[in-house]
Amino acid sequence: MKTEIFAVDGQKPDMSVIRRCADIIKNGGLVAFPTETVYGLGANGLDAEACKGIYEAKGRPSDNPLILHISELSELSDLAKDISEKAKLLISDFWPGPMTLIFKKKDIVPDAVTGGLDTVAVRFPENRVARLLIKESGVPIAAPSANTSGKPSPTRASHVEYDLGGRIDAIIDGGACEFGLESTIVDVSGEVPCLLRPGSVTVEELREAVGEVAIDKAVLGKLNEGERPKAPGMKYTHYSPNAEVTIVRGEGKVQKITELANSAVKDGKNVGILAVEENKALYEGFNVLFVGTISEPESIAANIFKMLRKCDYLGYDYVLAEGFEEKGIGLAIMNRLKKAAGYNIIEV
Ligand code: TXA
Ligand code: MG
Repeated sequence: MKTEIFAVDGQKPDMSVIRRCADIIKNGGLVAFPTETVYGLGANGLDAEACKGIYEAKGRPSDNPLILHISELSELSDLAKDISEKAKLLISDFWPGPMTLIFKKKDIVPDAVTGGLDTVAVRFPENRVARLLIKESGVPIAAPSANTSGKPSPTRASHVEYDLGGRIDAIIDGGACEFGLESTIVDVSGEVPCLLRPGSVTVEELREAVGEVAIDKAVLGKLNEGERPKAPGMKYTHYSPNAEVTIVRGEGKVQKITELANSAVKDGKNVGILAVEENKALYEGFNVLFVGTISEPESIAANIFKMLRKCDYLGYDYVLAEGFEEKGIGLAIMNRLKKAAGYNIIEV
């Protein structure tokens, strides 16, 4: 299959491109498109066959359900039922934006989307290209992140092309994603809202909006044998570069990273270090990729997937990553990094 790539202006996209891609969606095809979080791989969310195509293109396990994307709030009630007062508070504070909510589903939502669950994940993105594409398609768009299953999520059209070129119909290139981490997922199908995946809308912000918010155990660390995360996708290894990744955290991290890097270089390994720009001068002589600045942690969120991908492109086989505090956006950054590292963390 030839994958068509259309570059558009993210603010003022060429409507003939949007219409052409909407036609592909309507006809059961697959189109990757930008959102403010990461690129999504879109299909008609009411067409079970089209959704199966998503699983095939990504190599995604079929029990991992998809998020349905809407372009107007009024479309929510077509898909979800029993929308609680707390859900409404979250909607009014954070939609459109980088947050996904889990509701009890209506019958119109196919099992191919929900993996057989009685709930459905819905997101109302802010990104203009995404919203226009959904609107022109006239259907909710099912879209997981547009990466090969297990690889870091794509924050640039080039990442999508690298993973899925030749396997999907089209890619709309609307530039780099603003936030760079997948949406915050909150389950609002029960009494107390529960955070299933941390993201750019932080748990602190959620609590300010609705009061009590529970945190699913899978958000913080590795689950034990037999435990299940509430978001099925949280159980899979994710975001992993080919390299072995180790996170080093705490006061003595620079010294420890230097020590480990030196000894790995001696063993003939191609070593990379993921560090913040403030520590630039401290790793002289090593391959360092800068993930952003600690003074502006949003910059780390926006860059982390790009840098994890870069580790592959540069052929690193051992990567040492500086760890961060798990508060604010740091919770989401560390959640992704820990998975990339297979929960391999050294505290010093
Ligand atoms: O930012 C995002 O959310 C991006 C963009 C494209 O919108 N999408 C995304 O989709 O990250 P994906 O498929 O990579 O991750 C969706 C997560 C998975 O962990 C999945 O298990 C969970 O959402 N999920 C979907 N439906 C669910 C449901 N009904 N109950 C619990 N978890 C659900
Ligand atoms: Mg994903």
